[in-house]
Amino acid sequence: MKSIILDVDTGIDDTMAIAYAAHSPELQLLGLTTLFGNVSVEESTRNSLYVLEMLGREEVEVYAGAGKPFARDNVLGYAKHVHGEDGLGGALQDAIPKRTAGSMTAAQFMINQVRSKPGEVTIIAVGPMTNLALAIQADPEFVTLVDQVVIMGGSVTVKGNVSPYAEANIRSDPEAAKYVFQSGLPITLVGLDVTMKTLLPRTRLQEWRNKDTKLSQFVADAADFYMNAYETWNPGIGGCALHDPLAVGMVIDPSFCRTEAMHVEVDVGEGSPSLGRTYAVEQTDSTKSPNINVCLEVDAERFLEHFMNRTV
Ligand code: BDR
Ligand code: CA
Repeated sequence: MKSIILDVDTGIDDTMAIAYAAHSPELQLLGLTTLFGNVSVEESTRNSLYVLEMLGREEVEVYAGAGKPFARDNVLGYAKHVHGEDGLGGALQDAIPKRTAGSMTAAQFMINQVRSKPGEVTIIAVGPMTNLALAIQADPEFVTLVDQVVIMGGSVTVKGNVSPYAEANIRSDPEAAKYVFQSGLPITLVGLDVTMKTLLPRTRLQEWRNKDTKLSQFVADAADFYMNAYETWNPGIGGCALHDPLAVGMVIDPSFCRTEAMHVEVDVGEGSPSLGRTYAVEQTDSTKSPNINVCLEVDAERFLEHFMNRTV
């Protein structure tokens, strides 16, 4: 069993990733850490607590983290047009979770866990890289004590989703991503190269509706909203991308994707239209050794069935 911390900006696909992880016997959920991204950190924390409540997993602690980027004073923007005003496509219905988050910061929780179980903790980061950057900054040995970090973010072969160049998680905090990529952490990058190929077709929603549980209706309602947003920007797509769940999938079964070791950098040029772009540097440059295992191909059908069989 793998011990994992799920770092989330919950979010609709984050919700699916939490449910997928919570229902996976291969994973022990040490805790959820939250931050800004799709919504504010207060909202992503509330949503994470609520999702765990819906899952009947109230023993899993939640720790709130960054409310703004690593090296910027202000958030560059949320993604409420994609995830809804509440971040859950309206499925929250003004519910208030019974619990509140723990008093430690997300970065401190990560550090404590990694220090108490050296070489055993996997971090799955599916929001901006800010909490990871703060953990490394506070404890430089962190990078040698983590088992692995699986990041949903960026792309090296396809265009971005928040600009022609950039993917949302990286664009939300480019300086944090750059810092994390250069840190020496053992990283697997699950980017748009593969997540835009792992679509949840709208036709599959009925399977969740048929289960007719509170959880299945909640996740289906949220997914419905997400699919409508996808359809608005990608007419004819017929579903939504399973970005964050694929990062969880890669920890359960790394054979879902073919990876390649690459040297990946992040564009942080202020005012540049390509802010937040991730790109692979040619391996002819011997000063730039590979720093990331990048997912380049995915067995999308096999992943989708695995995800559908256990998420709700
Ligand atoms: C990523 O951005 C967020 O909106 C999603 O939750 C996912 O983590 C996709 O680019
Ligand atoms: Ca996310």
